Amino acid sequence: MKNINVVILAAGEGTRMKSKMPKVLHEVMGKPMIKRVIDTACELGAQNICVVTGHKSNEVQEALKNENVTFAVQEKQLGTGHAVMQAEKYINDDEDVLILYGDTPLIKAETLQKLIDYHRSEDNGVSIISAVVDNSEGYGHIIRDKSGNFVKNVEYKDATEEEKLVKEINSGIYCFKGSSLKKALKLITNDNVQGEYYLPDALEIILKNGEKVNALSIGDVTEFFGVNNRIQLAEANKIMQKRINEKHMLNGVTIISPEDTYISDDVEIGCDTIIYPGCVFEGKTVIGEDCKVGPDVRLTDMKLSDNVTIQYTVAMESEVGSGTKVGPYAYIRPNSKIGENIKIGDFVEVKNSVIGNGTKVSHLTYIGDSDVGERINFGCGTVTVNYDGHKKFRTTIEDDVFIGCNANLVAPVTLKKGSYVAAGSTITKDVPEKALAVARNRQQNIEGWTKK
Ligand code: UD1
Ligand code: CA
Repeated sequence: MKNINVVILAAGEGTRMKSKMPKVLHEVMGKPMIKRVIDTACELGAQNICVVTGHKSNEVQEALKNENVTFAVQEKQLGTGHAVMQAEKYINDDEDVLILYGDTPLIKAETLQKLIDYHRSEDNGVSIISAVVDNSEGYGHIIRDKSGNFVKNVEYKDATEEEKLVKEINSGIYCFKGSSLKKALKLITNDNVQGEYYLPDALEIILKNGEKVNALSIGDVTEFFGVNNRIQLAEANKIMQKRINEKHMLNGVTIISPEDTYISDDVEIGCDTIIYPGCVFEGKTVIGEDCKVGPDVRLTDMKLSDNVTIQYTVAMESEVGSGTKVGPYAYIRPNSKIGENIKIGDFVEVKNSVIGNGTKVSHLTYIGDSDVGERINFGCGTVTVNYDGHKKFRTTIEDDVFIGCNANLVAPVTLKKGSYVAAGSTITKDVPEKALAVARNRQQNIEGWTKK
């Protein structure tokens, strides 16, 4: 099998973004556009991926430093043909080369695979992805002869009135034989309205060289939707969001309002889980089966087991066991391990803590740096006092402890198995097994006090 190499053009300035940041680093559904294109190329099993950078080249290369790609720099943006010339040393005669764009992040690997398969089975010198559209303004137009054979590409700005009526457009995405592309690059000139070296001129050159050239028309034009301004960026987000949501829905997840649900690429969701409006799932979040998530839940790198109910909550880098209910208005911070059949109620914050099965933390409580056992009852307003201004300390609460309302547990401290803490106590010493700790002044009633 021939190698497939990829050249990604990303040198353009992107002035219409009106941004300090290079255009291709703007994110679509939480991932920089250029990273999406690189990931798609990797999915195809591309051997070499060369990114052509130019405008703010250093920033783009810095952002991609952990990617398995090589870079070519295009100092001046003299056109798409000129951009590919900069990558020439990464183009090998006996390999195929795909041309992609850093600002065209929605192209699918399966579509590119179809292009490659078509290219190879037809033994074309170059194969183009095209589409038939109603409004072809601004695009390169595919010109064919009476028998439908490919003749050439004409850029809109260079097209005659008759050519402008053609509805088949060039997506800008091609699969070339390396040798054909290399020969053609030497012959591209900038003799056109824009004074640019057009890559699509290579198509006609290769044809005239006696090789086969043809276009594969695809139905879904959103795949080569290019982003030039922030309106188009929002549109690209919408398209990506819809694709991801539809994947989950087809897998058996109910999404009540897909327009208000934002799920990152790598998130996994189990069958029969219901997602209510206003959810954002990011990073490597994994959600089990039969969960009810939302409204308004933001999960980042979270792991929810089966049957979890969670609403109006922000949670990150933690685990929640099956049957547990979280929220409304809970905040789960990194490195927390919340067990099964637990209740984490309203205005509860949990950080860097382990909570055992069957424990109830129903309201207004802070659990930080704590090891909490099973079947514990936290009264309303419990605070683990974990910080003395210099260092953090851990609180240990053993199984079957009962904590009355409004207690402070000053760490380091241990409440032993089955012990009780009286409401309003500030606990500074360990509480023995099954003991009751009362750590507050007794009430005094002063009779007739208002008369004085
Ligand atoms: C290009 C095609 C057109 C096609 C359209 C599809 C050319 C001449 N035309 O037009 O046939 O219908 O895409 O969207 O290729 N770039 C560089 N260096 C340069 C110039 C461009 O890296 O010197 C990059 C840009 O950053 C951009 C991409 O190439 O991402 C496309 O360039 P652009 O000039 O916008 O071409 P289009 O007018 O979109
Ligand atoms: Ca463009």
